[in-house]
Amino acid sequence: MGVYRDTYQRSLADPEWFWRDAAAAVEWTRMPIRVLDGDRPPFYRWFPDAELNTCHNALDRHIERGRGDDLALVYDSPVSGTIRRYTFGKLRDEVALFAGALRALGVTKGDRVVIYMAMVPEAVVAMLACARLGAIHSVVFGGFGPKELAARIDDAKPTVVVATSCGIEPSRVVEYKPLLDAALDEATHRPEHVVVLQREQAPARLRDGELTWEQATANAKPADIVPVDATDPLYVLYTSGTTGRPKGIVRDNGGHAVALTWSMANIFACGPGDVFWAASDVGWVVGHSYIVYAPLLAGATTVLYEGKPVGTPDAGAFWRVVREHGVNVLFTAPTAIRAIRKEDPATTRLELPSLRALFLAGERLDPQTYEWAGQRLGVPVIDNWWQTETGWPIAASPRGLEELPTKPGSPSVPVPGYDIRVLTPDGQDAAPGTDGAIAIRLPLPPGCLPTLWGDDERYVQSYLSAYPGHYLTGDGGRFDEDGYLYVMGRTDDVINVAGHRLSTGAMEEVLAAHPAVAECAVIGVDDELKGQVPRGFVVLKAGVDTPAETVAGELVRLVRDRIGAVASLRSVQVVPALPKTRSGKILRRTMRGIADGREEPVPSTIEDPAVLEALRPILQS
Ligand code: COA
Ligand code: AMP
Repeated sequence: MGVYRDTYQRSLADPEWFWRDAAAAVEWTRMPIRVLDGDRPPFYRWFPDAELNTCHNALDRHIERGRGDDLALVYDSPVSGTIRRYTFGKLRDEVALFAGALRALGVTKGDRVVIYMAMVPEAVVAMLACARLGAIHSVVFGGFGPKELAARIDDAKPTVVVATSCGIEPSRVVEYKPLLDAALDEATHRPEHVVVLQREQAPARLRDGELTWEQATANAKPADIVPVDATDPLYVLYTSGTTGRPKGIVRDNGGHAVALTWSMANIFACGPGDVFWAASDVGWVVGHSYIVYAPLLAGATTVLYEGKPVGTPDAGAFWRVVREHGVNVLFTAPTAIRAIRKEDPATTRLELPSLRALFLAGERLDPQTYEWAGQRLGVPVIDNWWQTETGWPIAASPRGLEELPTKPGSPSVPVPGYDIRVLTPDGQDAAPGTDGAIAIRLPLPPGCLPTLWGDDERYVQSYLSAYPGHYLTGDGGRFDEDGYLYVMGRTDDVINVAGHRLSTGAMEEVLAAHPAVAECAVIGVDDELKGQVPRGFVVLKAGVDTPAETVAGELVRLVRDRIGAVASLRSVQVVPALPKTRSGKILRRTMRGIADGREEPVPSTIEDPAVLEALRPILQS
């Protein structure tokens, strides 16, 4: 562990030296003099006096170095039967044109633009166009419905919303525009303009004043880059917390560009001319960081894939893409590999000569998936653990620095820059082998959230107050004797369904709003394919005489209609009562343990043990 260990220690002993060195890989319009501003703890800012443009670093910079004809992006969409290739030159031209269109619609530096789009190149173009203007994008995953979209519109207060008319799921075309209309009707904020990319699978009916992408760009003049402060926000990405109100994770420009560029070389061992494929969605952080920004910042080719791992057309879809585009590094979630293995469990080694490594993140990597993928692909399988909040891996095997042995069940070692601590409830470092709350000592490295959008107080209260001087990740786990971190799962009510982070609190809010429901609980239970799925339990109000199955069916539909199909809440059960503490707190953790077949200690504060016993067989079914 020589190189890794030295680098890691240097990154913690002298972070300013370490990140100044890393910053040399980025092109600045004003070089950083000061590296870290720690004058206002617990708020830290990286590169406070520097200036740059992220879009310039992702596109123009490579063109200026003679790489305008190299491939920047390959769009592969089996669901629409399309493959399109973009050189750096072509992508820059489209981005500059759309930036010009946004500017003509009144978007200037610091304005927000909400992007609600399927996995099409125009989604990437819209994101980079915002970056070009110094505007702040906020991408909303297409699987979210009107309630979630409206909450984000009200919080971000965008000048413009950009949408696709539809998304294409293997089983159906999903019309996005009616969902957007419903969200706009529900939101109190009114964006000045709506721009819709019409797709032939389901063109949308536009309302008065709304524009198609073609109309918006018809007379636009390409926009040049607008330099921004390194500390200015590049984007806000909303993520699920424990309550129904999503958290607006802020990403700055400078720290982000430095950290992602560093990660490509040192974690993913990927550079200019390589082909990087993150099989995720631009609506999630993996898509922001490793479909859009990091590969382009590094001068690599990124693959934008619109489809599922299976059924588009079969379980060989991913391997076809790897072969056809010469993918060197593949990144996805374990659930995608489980879906493929379920359909095609063969263990014979595939011939994928271009592939060098498979990186997996988003949820716990189970040992069976780890082993099967290693056998089938014949390349290192590298688990990496991180979150929307950090934007890049916290723990991983940093291949570009040093090839470390991997251990199934562990995303390996702390990444340079992250001072990871496993803490006991009284804030002490837990001994190796002992479980605790995983925290990161402040300051967080560049690229991580500096705050929540418009809500410093919530930032401090959500992440920094449990253990002063530390950022609380919300995950629990332990170190082993070799310094490998084992991440065991969330310690809060956030769940992870097919690699998608969801809030049980948000689902409970929807259930509780039904007139027949007196109280409810949603818990995440283990699932062989998706890792976790939500299960809902409701108690009906006295006097409700609608049959339980009817109410349950209505509730499932309600969550799907309000939060979106991605919530995947398929089971709601009507029960006579929910187990609670004497102070009225529902025992969700105990319920989850029973449903997953773990022996959870029953709290001594339980109000009525008989309620839990009555629920036990239902939870176990
Ligand atoms: N737009 C509209 N609807 C969407 C959507 C989108 N962008 N993404 C998902 N949905 C819908 C799906 O069609 C599905 O609807 P259904 O209930 O009618 O079938 C529902 O939301 C749930 O989707 P999902 O959880 O993805 O389940 P699935 O059965 O369609 O696919 C997997 C399961 C495992 C194949 C799939 O989730 C997958 O490939 N996951 C990879 C994980 C990933 O990309 N994670 C991001 C972090 S790396
Ligand atoms: P998201 O913010 O959507 O990226 O989800 C972050 C959460 O996903 C983390 O807090 C973890 O609970 C979980 N997660 C991500 N990667 C891993 C991993 N490699 N192992 C275990 N859990 C993970």
